[in-house]
Amino acid sequence: MQYPEFKNKHIISTKDLTKKELGVILDTAVRMDTVVQTQGFSAVLPNSLIAMLFLEPSTRTRLSFEAAAQRLGAHTVSVSDAGSSSAAKGETLADMVRVVAGYADCIVLRQPYQGQARMAADCIDIPLLNAGDGKGQHPTQALLDLYTIRKELGRLDSLKISLVGDLKYGRTVHSLCYALMPFTPQLTLCAPPELGLPRDILDDLKNHNIRCTLTSKLEEALQADVIYMTRIQRERFSDKSEYEKLKGSFVLTRELVLRGNKDIVIMHPLPRVDEISEDVDGLARAAYFRQAHNGMYVRMALLALVLGGDIP
Ligand code: NCD
Repeated sequence: MQYPEFKNKHIISTKDLTKKELGVILDTAVRMDTVVQTQGFSAVLPNSLIAMLFLEPSTRTRLSFEAAAQRLGAHTVSVSDAGSSSAAKGETLADMVRVVAGYADCIVLRQPYQGQARMAADCIDIPLLNAGDGKGQHPTQALLDLYTIRKELGRLDSLKISLVGDLKYGRTVHSLCYALMPFTPQLTLCAPPELGLPRDILDDLKNHNIRCTLTSKLEEALQADVIYMTRIQRERFSDKSEYEKLKGSFVLTRELVLRGNKDIVIMHPLPRVDEISEDVDGLARAAYFRQAHNGMYVRMALLALVLGGDIP
């Protein structure tokens, strides 16, 4: 099966995706899940070469993209450290992606500046997947988050979802807000006052009539279908004493979980620092490692779609 409307599409922000497109991506990821469970590999993209440009630290995103590419039979070339690339010599991102676009059929890009993924995409005519642009967006993570919610709960519509932690700098939360919007969630936004959701995103949610409750009490966030914990994003603080003051703001313990909604699904994009204590890991509703595994299927789906592969 093919979806020509996705061919050559850049994936920069979840704000750009319609409910129908979200559905196609999630359904394609289900097929990829089946492919991996039944065959392990499938030659969907045997003639494609994908460039992974990771100019900021990454484990999950880079390795799941690499694994996704290889499970589809594609080839990869990669930069996994800005210091080892010509960025260290002062090359602009625009020049870098123009050069790489001559070598590869698709670029997966992570870099530290908000808005620069879109700028880079505008410089090239092969598809670019934004794997995180500073404190901006992380659309492929939000798609795997949607996939996980649907897999864990069997649906996406009208859920009560709590977003907890660093909502200001956490790009996964920014992308997840827009990805959830078409499914009319009720959101509880739980953050220290200094780390609330950016005003423009809050306004967009309100303009779409999404009910948002603001709180700084973790107990309140536990009265939901899903609790999505996030790390305080240390690397985004210009004032390190501010980070020191805010770190450890929320720590989800087993005891707290057991006092919340008994069916709550616990998610986290990972890496965690101390915001979920390890005694939560053994609970059946702790979904964060399953969530990380789902990333590979969703990234297989995205690569196959934007490169025009025949979806099995
Ligand atoms: C997230 C990121 O890089 O934004 N990690 C990830 O891709 N799973 C979250 C984080 O770093 O806190």
